[in-house]
Amino acid sequence: MPYKKTTTKKPMKKAPLRKLKKGEKEERIRPNVELLRGMKDILPVEQKYWQYVEDRVKGLVTSYRFNKIDTPILENAKLFTMTAGKLTDVVEKEMYSFVDRGEETVSLRPEATASIARAYISHGMHNLPQPVKLWYWGPMFRYDRPQAGRYRQHHQCGFEIIGKDKPVVDAELVIASFALCSSLGLEVEIQINSIGTLECCRENYKEELVSYYRARRSAICETCKARLTKNPLRLLDCKEEQCQAIKAEAPQIVDYLCNDCRDHFMKVLEYLDEIDVPYTLNPRLVRGLDYYTRTVFEIYVKNNDLSTGGKKAQSAIGGGGRYDLLIEKLGGRPTPAAGFAIGIERAIARIKDANIQVEDNSRVNIFLACLGEYAKRKSLGLFEDLRREGFRVATNFSKEKLRSQLELADKLKVKFTLILGQKEVLDETIIVRDMETGVQEVVDYKKVIPDLRKKLGMVE
Ligand code: HAM
Repeated sequence: MPYKKTTTKKPMKKAPLRKLKKGEKEERIRPNVELLRGMKDILPVEQKYWQYVEDRVKGLVTSYRFNKIDTPILENAKLFTMTAGKLTDVVEKEMYSFVDRGEETVSLRPEATASIARAYISHGMHNLPQPVKLWYWGPMFRYDRPQAGRYRQHHQCGFEIIGKDKPVVDAELVIASFALCSSLGLEVEIQINSIGTLECCRENYKEELVSYYRARRSAICETCKARLTKNPLRLLDCKEEQCQAIKAEAPQIVDYLCNDCRDHFMKVLEYLDEIDVPYTLNPRLVRGLDYYTRTVFEIYVKNNDLSTGGKKAQSAIGGGGRYDLLIEKLGGRPTPAAGFAIGIERAIARIKDANIQVEDNSRVNIFLACLGEYAKRKSLGLFEDLRREGFRVATNFSKEKLRSQLELADKLKVKFTLILGQKEVLDETIIVRDMETGVQEVVDYKKVIPDLRKKLGMVE
């Protein structure tokens, strides 16, 4: 069967705009239904990266024994204002909130930890053996200024351990986050800090921090001036050039930790030292959500700033910490907890930066081509048999010419194409074409499945 490989690519045609009728405006036939700013379509070519991350997350949750939970994307707005904090950027500037038809103010979730805490209370999970270990994966919404690595809809996979206050839990989460990133092929560094608790250490610290910044008020940026009264801990998160020197000399929260909080933090670090997780103490790490107590951490990819002039390195791919007061604040019993989440878009961006080879599980390895009506009928059944036997097989029954079917097989980069024509059907044979060498072999139809298994090295 003569067949020549062709490599000419046809350019993609744009959808034609039909002719405007007299007096008709262009918006009528092409209304403004563009993708919203800061939102992203995840196209088929991208899916292999998502699958790659999901597969590794699934491996992690099996060994660390987390159970999956899905919570609604839409929640009562109060859930987030009460937990993330009214004066945080996430709540103050970035929430997608609206009044629904039942006059309730609802929000698209900006994060999921608060939802998990709500679910823990409403399903009486304190009756389960503690700790309760949960994981989730899904979209989050933040009306932020879109830029590289910052979307208005992004996805997170998160892990929460609820019901235990032991430092080993914090360490287990840091280790799990490191293990996940390593399994993705990313070389990361964990930055860690303790921000103590509200009642004791943090109040004293805030007073010190505020008086330090007040004395330098004229030199700091406008945002920091506002933070001084609204949310002083966020002063440590300022990225403005003019505030950096002041921030570097600011008092450090670790010096204000009470004995319990200091012991807790020391133990977390000792556990991490035990298994050589690369961490750095970052006394200015405070996180952007108000519910944290004691340990906080963020995950950064190492050396990823070569192509981006250091820009991307500034944003963490994940973060988390302890939130011992959150469940109580939502009306539950006092329940310590900790967790972390990874941003999937950011993780994928780093996987691409690092040129990590990602296997495409959706790639087919067999193409089934047929010629003529009789062969087509027989191919329908063979396609089902192959699929059921676990082959990744593709076909296009609507193409009549063998040449165009082989071109498609070529595009799909399959290893073998099966060719069934009138003659083969009568002889009860089938042609197996090696797409790399072009060598064709006539095989007994009944033996084609075991033959392919052998050729593809599939275990029986
Ligand atoms: P977060 O640090 O706000 O923590 O978000 C976690 C991760 O989500 C970030 O490290 C980042 O990779 C990604 N992310 C956040 N905002 C965006 C955005 N606008 N565009 C793209 N990616 C983004 C939390 O949300 C906590 N709930 C984590 C946690 C779990 N703490 C305890 N348990």
